[in-house]
Amino acid sequence: MFITLEGPEGSGKTSHIPPLVEYLREKGYTVFPTREPGGTSIGEQIREVIHDLKNVEMHPRTETLLYQAARAQIVEQVFKPRLQMGEIVISDRYYDSTIAYQGYGHQQDLEQVRSLVKYATGGLVPNLTVLLDVDVEEGLGRKKQNGAEWNRMDAQDIEFYRRVRIGYLEMVKVEPNRWVVVDAGQAWDEVQEELKRLIVEKLK
Ligand SMILES: Nc1ncnc2c1ncn2[C@@H]1O[C@H](COP(=O)(O)OP(=O)(O)OP(=O)(O)O)[C@@H](O)[C@H]1O
Ligand SMILES: [Mg+2]
Repeated sequence: MFITLEGPEGSGKTSHIPPLVEYLREKGYTVFPTREPGGTSIGEQIREVIHDLKNVEMHPRTETLLYQAARAQIVEQVFKPRLQMGEIVISDRYYDSTIAYQGYGHQQDLEQVRSLVKYATGGLVPNLTVLLDVDVEEGLGRKKQNGAEWNRMDAQDIEFYRRVRIGYLEMVKVEPNRWVVVDAGQAWDEVQEELKRLIVEKLK
């Protein structure tokens, strides 16, 4: 079972994963949490380059390709072997983020981005993708308020993030069987409960 969490800035992806993993482990599942970009030594090095606020000159195509390089590595080194061993892999972002951010956000050609993503993943598609959907201002506001990590990808203009959210919602419409939308504007505890419920349901 391969589960990915997606959603705009400050929707709660990173903060929801650790308690979710703990809950599933208590139920006896073998769970492997990871994040993108990163999750491997090579991927974490690429993550530094992508996120570095010094890299203001980075072109969207450079950014898109760096993400795919990190992704190809985590797919082969982590996702495929773990899934083959029957583990539950939960990833904080995956290729849908590229379609949302580099495709819709940076307005790159969607067909070209999709084909790059397919190349990078070798066609590995999640069994379940949760969209933590939240109002763009609300999400960004949470991050500022709570002093969360602030990197180059957090420094786009507001319209960029609006396009990202619209992109996610369009992707849900195209593949409704893979996606579940959770209202991440709710209180954190309620979101967590909903995540636990829907993942346990899917595992049955
Ligand atoms: N439902 C919620 N209500 C209030 N605060 C929340 C909620 N969900 C998350 N937060 C807070 O918002 C901040 C950002 O959350 P988190 O880092 O989990 O988001 P994220 O989706 O991983 O963001 P990013 O896309 O930037 O990585 C954290 O401080 C978190 O505690
Ligand atoms: Mg995060």
